[in-house]
Amino acid sequence: MNLRQKLSLELLSETKVIRPFDCGDHDLNSFLLNESKNFKKNLLATTYIVQTPKFTVGYFSLLNDKVSKKESQSNRKWKQKFTESMPQGKQFKSYPAVKIGRLAVDVKMNGEGLGSLMIQYVKETFRKSQKSGCKFITVDAYRDSLKFYEKNGFEYLTKNDEGANTRLMYFDLTVI
Ligand SMILES: CC(C)(COP(=O)(O)OP(=O)(O)OC[C@H]1O[C@@H](n2cnc3c(N)ncnc32)[C@H](O)[C@@H]1OP(=O)(O)O)[C@@H](O)C(=O)NCCC(=O)NCCS
Repeated sequence: MNLRQKLSLELLSETKVIRPFDCGDHDLNSFLLNESKNFKKNLLATTYIVQTPKFTVGYFSLLNDKVSKKESQSNRKWKQKFTESMPQGKQFKSYPAVKIGRLAVDVKMNGEGLGSLMIQYVKETFRKSQKSGCKFITVDAYRDSLKFYEKNGFEYLTKNDEGANTRLMYFDLTVI
């Protein structure tokens, strides 16, 4: 049995004993191990854990979000991308979204496709469920992970954050 076959996805509960995890980033490790349960308790973010019987191999946390017109640098670009497809050309100041607050893979599993698998799960879950309107997935992507999100179909909302430590990216769920 290979490692992938041993993986399971679990919604974090407040009583969960979180198995060891190291993605190489102190803040992301610390969020999972020390803060994720409090975020859940206070309804700030929901965390999903991918694990083997011994280790946590990846996790992501989600929260509600919106994509606002004011975050988009160019009104013309906003109009093209976001309003022309709307019924009767209706214009909205913002659109409903779900934010990937955090997403990380253990260093032992880097480059094995797990990060993309987690992104795929979020895309399919929110596209299919339609429990509430949700047009976009958003993420404040770390500089080192921009290529990863690009490969997973995410685009930049603005050029204003070029060169910053994190950049706001989005994925349009209506394309799947
Ligand atoms: C970024 C991260 C989640 C990627 O997870 P992963 O499971 O290694 O990614 P995948 O194997 O699904 O990679 C998918 C593609 O993205 C590319 N990629 C992944 N990480 C990359 C990086 N840091 N820089 C450039 N490209 C990267 C891969 O090469 C792969 O492309 P390919 O299919 O052409 O080979 C993982 O490296 C990680 O946890 N990093 C530390 C935490 C972090 O930065 N999280 C993001 C916070 S916004």
